[in-house]
Amino acid sequence: MALIGNPLHASVIERNTRYETLELVPLTPRFGATITGIDLSQPLSELQEQEIRRASLDWLVLTFPEQKLTHSQHKAFGRRFGKLHVHPLLRNVEMEHPEILPVITTADSPYTAGEGWHSDVTCDEIPPMGSMLYITQTPGDGGGDTLFADMYQAYEILSQPMRNFLEGLRAVHDGAQSYISTYGASAPKEGHPHAEHPVITRHPETGRKVLYVNRGFTSHIVGLTPSESRATLEMLFRHIETNPQITCRVRWQPNTLTFWDNRCTQHHAIWDYYPRTRRGGRVSILGDKRPSF
Ligand code: SIN
Repeated sequence: MALIGNPLHASVIERNTRYETLELVPLTPRFGATITGIDLSQPLSELQEQEIRRASLDWLVLTFPEQKLTHSQHKAFGRRFGKLHVHPLLRNVEMEHPEILPVITTADSPYTAGEGWHSDVTCDEIPPMGSMLYITQTPGDGGGDTLFADMYQAYEILSQPMRNFLEGLRAVHDGAQSYISTYGASAPKEGHPHAEHPVITRHPETGRKVLYVNRGFTSHIVGLTPSESRATLEMLFRHIETNPQITCRVRWQPNTLTFWDNRCTQHHAIWDYYPRTRRGGRVSILGDKRPSF
């Protein structure tokens, strides 16, 4: 029997930890990093912005502790990376800051947003390129962490025959799946957004291959029978959920902002703090290209 070595060992990528304008400490050797030495409430210099972009492409998930931000400053930081997205569930709601999705869980909440593996809003034709979650109140005692998974590595640890099978397939991502069944939202007149994307995409900036299906939104694979599609997606979701070596964990302190690249990561909020409260808001940045291979 041929033995397959650990495929991650074949793809050791040099990641930069040295920057002129910020200090970076990895959360794991492969992805996720804490950034200090920068005040996000102040306008960024060109070099700071370039270095954050570079760190984001290298590390995918950047967490910035000890930031004191107003809503306007949170949005201004997001706008350095693109136009801001308005979440489909807020598109018909009057709000002072519709670009900030409230992420608030109290003892009365029927659910907590994002408690399940997903990338943000992949039901849109062009999903957000990234999101910035700013948590101002944590439940204490270490509760309310967020898990992230690296979808480059999720692709890289698939066997070659499985990669060959998946490349070229397309899948439907359906907002109704998440927004109706998880959040009980009624469908807007025009229906919930849905879109078709390749199962394996290429990151538009790095060119690296990404496993691009998620339990939150992906409903079926086009061209397979319903039972083939269900079995394939379940295998891929379990692949993501049962490989802890492709994850990192963000431990929030009050006033921490985390910026993730939504094109190549998934995340999962952990609701382990009932009946306590966790409070914050999320800004997402519009992508400028459809996911493609
Ligand atoms: C989200 O899915 O954006 C929320 C994540 C979290 O609350 O940790």
